[in-house]
Amino acid sequence: MSDAKNIQSVKGTRDFYPDDMRLRNWIADTWREVSLRNGFEEYDAPIFEYLDLFTIKSGDEIAAQLFSFTDRGGRSLAIRPEITPSLARMVNARINALPRPIKWFSVPRLCRAENPQRGRLREFFQWNVDVIGSDDVLADAECIYTAVDFLRQVGLTPDDVVVRIGSRPLVVHKLRQLGVAEAAMDQALVALDRRPKISAEAFAEQCAKAGLSDEQVGAICEFLDVPETDSLQQVAAVEGMDGDRNAILQLRTHLEAMGVWPYCRFDWHIVRGLAYYTGIVYEVFDAAGSLRAVAGGGRYDNLVEVLGGPKIGATGFGMGDVVLAILLKDKDKLPHTAGRLDYFVIDDRECPLSLVLQVVSEIRKRGGQADFSYKRQNTGKQLKEANRRGAAAAVIVRGAGKPIGIKNLANGNQTDQPLEDFLSLLDKTR
Ligand code: HAM
Repeated sequence: MSDAKNIQSVKGTRDFYPDDMRLRNWIADTWREVSLRNGFEEYDAPIFEYLDLFTIKSGDEIAAQLFSFTDRGGRSLAIRPEITPSLARMVNARINALPRPIKWFSVPRLCRAENPQRGRLREFFQWNVDVIGSDDVLADAECIYTAVDFLRQVGLTPDDVVVRIGSRPLVVHKLRQLGVAEAAMDQALVALDRRPKISAEAFAEQCAKAGLSDEQVGAICEFLDVPETDSLQQVAAVEGMDGDRNAILQLRTHLEAMGVWPYCRFDWHIVRGLAYYTGIVYEVFDAAGSLRAVAGGGRYDNLVEVLGGPKIGATGFGMGDVVLAILLKDKDKLPHTAGRLDYFVIDDRECPLSLVLQVVSEIRKRGGQADFSYKRQNTGKQLKEANRRGAAAAVIVRGAGKPIGIKNLANGNQTDQPLEDFLSLLDKTR
């Protein structure tokens, strides 16, 4: 009996075949392009860190989703479920050398031990855009602008996506007014964040766990459930939050000036699940609300300090590739990224293979993408292969000293010219 085993990929992970890889690269390249044009610089961090980095201030939800392990030296480590704590750690390590504001972006591969479902996997990519070292709401506005800049570039309109903007301090102030104790605050926020994602019974249970009375739950839900048109009146009605009220109003003014307010709206339900947020928070959803969040972020002014650094303002967001790809497919906005090749070099009957190899090498030397058939077969079959490979043109080699044919595979037009002329043209255009 054979001991061969058919080992499958792990649930919640993805294989990237060339077609998938092209899409993944297109998404990451577009994230990079948009980040750079908005003045952000790229960074990265290790794929695993000390476990404590992720448990200190991210909250129970993330902690429960960690892939953690002990190394041979007995150290507790974890694969990164997000990059924000690593970012704060890196900034702390060079806090005096880095000119502020620090505007950085990254496209890390992350792992979370979630229950895989539509839009949620156990391994994914996430675009991170953060500004550290500024308390100004302009930094929040710039991050939101950058997210919308990307959404707009890939063809999504305000009919397709919405940035729902909330304020943690607003909800905290309201909870305080309702008599909720400080010690219960984090858990109360977690319950409110989970509310749209869980059943009414499960929500009631979470609120009870946080120590909220039925009256408090009723009052905060009533406060959050007002129609959007009344949302700013809600802010005016909450006492003791002048700075936070101004931030909300200024954010809107900035986003209007930047021309992206049509993508945004206030929605006080948004409080975010991660424990480190302290100010404006937001999530990006498909307009129909049928998918999970495409992106989420906000201000986290204490994280750098909690990790041993100074108290400096920080704000940013993460956008995952999984829901984004589903949304783009639903909206028919995925690019048609076929495999690309500039030239497929084929030989005409009597031509020796060595000449084909020579021409292929000369094109490649000049930076052109060139390939050829491993099989010696007739011109028709080689042309078919050239088409199958998505080549823009076929280069037909006929023999030493003879002119070559360049066949445009899109329209079938063919021109003949000396090999030297073709190569010197390549020299000039590359
Ligand atoms: P997050 O809300 O946990 O925030 O994740 C942001 C986005 O990453 C989500 O909206 C979703 O698109 C994607 N995402 C999260 N988990 C998964 C998963 N299991 N599978 C697929 N996609 C997922 C953060 O991670 C914060 N650190 C973002 C941030 C940066 N805040 C400030 N700066």
